[in-house]
This record gives sequence, C-alpha cells and structure tokens, in this order.
Amino acid sequence: MKKKVINYAHRGASAVCPENTMAAFIKGLELGATGIETDVQMTKDGHLVLIHDETINRTTNGSGYVKDMTLEQLSVLDAGSWFGESFEGEHIPTLEDLLKLLHQRDTILNIELKNGIFMYPGMEEKVINLVRQYEMSDRVVFSSFNHYSLAFCKSIAPEIRTGILYMEGLYRPWEYASTLGADALHAYHYAVLPEFIVGATQHGKEYCPFTVNEPERMRSLIEAGVAGIITDYPERLAELLSNRGE
Ligand code: G3P
Ligand code: MG
Repeated sequence: MKKKVINYAHRGASAVCPENTMAAFIKGLELGATGIETDVQMTKDGHLVLIHDETINRTTNGSGYVKDMTLEQLSVLDAGSWFGESFEGEHIPTLEDLLKLLHQRDTILNIELKNGIFMYPGMEEKVINLVRQYEMSDRVVFSSFNHYSLAFCKSIAPEIRTGILYMEGLYRPWEYASTLGADALHAYHYAVLPEFIVGATQHGKEYCPFTVNEPERMRSLIEAGVAGIITDYPERLAELLSNRGE
C-alpha cells in the first residue's frame, strides 16, 4: 500500500504562530499536520533548545548568540510578542518540551540540527539520548545542512533516519545520500525535478521538499511522488490530501 504523504508543519504552524514555540507546534497538530519540523541549537550550558537562528535577536526580546547564553537566561525571554501581542509569554522551548508533547502520539518529528555554522560539539549524542529516552527513534528523522553530522548520527544511532538538506541541483542525490547512510532527501523545493523524486524513490530514499506553501506546487509535488512536504501552512496540505482521499 502506498504510504501517506507526511504533512510537516515547518517550525510548527509558523504562518499563524511564532515559529518554534509550543503554541506553533500545538497549532500545527490542530491544523492537520502529521509531522513537525523544528530547529535545534545548543546553549552555553549544553541544553538543546528550539530556535531557528544562531542568535535570539529576530524571534525574542533579547539579543546575542544562543551558544553564549544559559538555558536559565533564555527561559525568561519572550519568544512570542515579535509575532503578535496575543503570543506574549511564549518561551523558547527545549527539545524535551516537544518530545513530551509528541511521544504518545504517532506524529513524525523532523529534528533539524542547526550545527552548520557553530558545530556545537556533543550535540548529536545529546539529541540521540533524548530521542531514545522518549522512545521516539522510529518516528524521528534528523536533518541538517551539516552532512558530516548526519553521517556521525547514523554511525552512532543507525536506527534513527537521517535526511540531507540541500539547496541546489545535486547530481543523482540519492547516490550521494547513500555515501553518508542517509534515508531521505530534504531539498529546497525550487530545485526539485520530477526525475529526482523518481530516482530517489526507486533507490529507497524519501523525498521531502521544503518549504512549500502554494497549493498548486504541493499538488504537483504529490503527483510526482514525494514522501512528505514541509510547509508553513499544514492546513492547506491537509485539505489537499483529504480531497485526494489520503
Ligand atoms: O528542514 C527544512 C527547512 O527548515 C530548512 O531550512 O532555514 O527553514 O531551517 P530552514
Ligand atoms: Mg528548519
């Protein structure tokens, strides 16, 4: 039987909530997401926190690098008001907060390791330990633009799926993905040709483009055979999938 297309809410339901907050994750599930995509960075004292940028400047009322701050310092920041007054009081969640929300559901979790600019030594082991602790290894996929990190994850946690993130037209990307043991291709959606999806699927690699917000584009990618779509608008994708009987 054909697998259902995974509807990944990108940073949660980030079109209607402040990205990477608990409000955004909960809203994403309410809007029909079957997967959540989130970004992990690491604090000065080694905690895993969910925030897209290396700095807190854009999405909180503070300033500075995540890597230079402790969890306690981050936990008092407002991560909601920049998006809208009604979200005042949202905080930067930890990865554990999100695992607690999801571990008793069947939601797929795409954890993007944001270790391409700062390497965050020890981050992979911490993420893997937490995923195993919450018994979510079969529902997690790690992705990263840092492919060394993905190869390392696969070497120490072969049971957890990995997906390479990339922006441009790699040649036979499924073959490249195999060289680092990756299971999925998370490609920038403008750089996707139908033959990439066919090639990847024939070689057992899941193809999940990001970030796809227009229903027409979603439709053509589904018809081309993608395994999942990463979107800021999970409700649009949910409606489309439902109309297709999925
Ligand atoms: O995981 C897909 C996507 O989130 C990668 O780019 O910058 O939105 O984290 P970015
Ligand atoms: Mg991301």
